Amino acid sequence: MGERLYEGKAKIVYRGDEPGVYLMEFKDDATAFNGQKKGSITDKGVVNARLTARLLRLLEERGIPTQFLATAGERMLKVRELAMVPVEVVVRNVAAGSLCQRLGVEKGREFSPPLVELYLKDDSLGDPLVNRHHLRALGKSDDATLDRMEELAGRINEVLRPFFRERGLELVDFKLEFGRTPDGEIVLGDEITPDTCRLWDAATRESLDKDRFRQDLGGVEEAYAEVARRVMDGG
Ligand code: TMP
Repeated sequence: MGERLYEGKAKIVYRGDEPGVYLMEFKDDATAFNGQKKGSITDKGVVNARLTARLLRLLEERGIPTQFLATAGERMLKVRELAMVPVEVVVRNVAAGSLCQRLGVEKGREFSPPLVELYLKDDSLGDPLVNRHHLRALGKSDDATLDRMEELAGRINEVLRPFFRERGLELVDFKLEFGRTPDGEIVLGDEITPDTCRLWDAATRESLDKDRFRQDLGGVEEAYAEVARRVMDGG
């Protein structure tokens, strides 16, 4: 394993042994509210590495370019080298979380078409909600890149939502990050896990995601394990 390139709240990225290849390690550490709440979720790293591998592979099969190359150990993935775009794309099918707080929307309201939001990825600012004008003015991104990211985000939702629904899970909302390969292609990076998606049991509407940690609901490990079971077993 090569040099440690980046350590975030939930993952560490290392240089790989071959050019153009990085290794992404998933930690058990969990944070919420921009790092103000800290904890650990036993075996989260293992579950999240496995889920990300499964879901990025699924997206690749459906023609969506991703960072995923292979699994490389229990909590490690081999991924393509990317220069990350400092923008988080959030897709919301159902109102929950910060949207309800910010706009007074009732939790559970459905959006059709899904609502897409952009956040500037900057921990020191608490990842603020921004629009294209901000990103352009600050030189953080450009229209062509944002168009492509939003197009891919919509297609990803169209793959993931029915995939989860077939497994008794409602994909309420999720956050995506994209990056640019050395030859300039925009591809999906980062993770797709219960840390970055809201997933509700379709029958009971119970949260099976990081909201259990954020809101101290208990049963955090069990919820992650249940999502993994349904996704990996297909049932
Ligand atoms: P929000 O309702 O808190 O804005 O979150 C929307 C979605 O984005 C939710 O599925 C959780 C995910 N998310 C992250 O992955 N990272 C973050 O830092 C935040 C705030 C949300």
